[in-house]
Amino acid sequence: MEIFKDPNVLPCDFNIDHYRIKKCVGVSLHTNTYKCIEETSEYPVIIKEHFPRELIARSTENPKIITRKSAEEAYEYASNKFRRKAITLNRLTHPGVVPVLNVIERDNVMYYIMRELSGDSAENTFRTIPTEITVRDLLQQLLSALSYVHSHDILHGNISPSNIHINPNSTATLIGFAPYNVCSPITHTINMAATSAYAPIESINLQIDKQGTWSDLYSLAASFYMLMTSQEPMSAKERMCESIPRADLFCNNPQLKERFTPELLQSLDKAFAVDPNDRWQSAQEWLDALSAPPTAHDKEQRKGMFRRLWEWIYG
Ligand SMILES: Nc1ncnc2c1ncn2[C@@H]1O[C@H](COP(=O)(O)OP(=O)(O)O)[C@@H](O)[C@H]1O
Ligand SMILES: [Mg+2]
Repeated sequence: MEIFKDPNVLPCDFNIDHYRIKKCVGVSLHTNTYKCIEETSEYPVIIKEHFPRELIARSTENPKIITRKSAEEAYEYASNKFRRKAITLNRLTHPGVVPVLNVIERDNVMYYIMRELSGDSAENTFRTIPTEITVRDLLQQLLSALSYVHSHDILHGNISPSNIHINPNSTATLIGFAPYNVCSPITHTINMAATSAYAPIESINLQIDKQGTWSDLYSLAASFYMLMTSQEPMSAKERMCESIPRADLFCNNPQLKERFTPELLQSLDKAFAVDPNDRWQSAQEWLDALSAPPTAHDKEQRKGMFRRLWEWIYG
């Protein structure tokens, strides 16, 4: 038997059912992600493996999993949660959501199979700051995808610039869904505390009853902060500090004020509010606000933006 470099990750050329692994493309606390091909048709797919490292491991001699001491019940619970989310994803059909082709279980491990998308992440695609038109277009596509996802009672749970995939025709697709629906009380058995700069405060503090559609909207706004400034946003935890300005990070950013309309920035600030109650409550609510005609106050602010732009160009 081959000695694996990292026994918790399946090696190249290993078979998961009739899919052969080409390489591992993602390792996280609860999953491994592999680029594979279907053996007969050579159809390329991406496979997500449920692998909660706190609960299971593999030895160097055997690819079959070993459940850690006293973790059997927790692993079964987590596997059921993963299966439920995978089955829901498998039912979805939307251009903004990665197609999940199948859900399988092998040797007591859950997997789901996705279509391999061409293109690259938003993080790698936008080397320069996108224009207002591009930002609005992407935002509208992603909000429509999220509205659809949320209507099936699941959250994405992990939105970030690396989990927004930009296709060759410039459309956007959500990948990298969190392995469990974070609304469920999985945290009794597994550490699900989010740590990234894109996570809302209720996910960092594991306030399960406060998580909802608005949590994904926070992460979407945080991702756009990165795309529009090329800087990672301040984390929700940092923004809780008294000394740090926590509101209107889009509207108060001089670089953003010069390039984008106040209506767009205000709508992003509302989604990016630290307090979940201050945010848009649904993707549809945010979409409606984006397509609403500007008010007289917005028009005044917009004039200011064009004046500043004019002065900046012509001195
Ligand atoms: N359906 C897909 N098509 C193409 N590439 C994908 C797909 N799903 C994932 N990837 C690639 O694999 C990487 C890891 O996948 P992801 O689901 O985001 O897992 P992780 O939680 O480890 O980040 C992604 O950043 C992307 O490069
Ligand atoms: Mg990812």
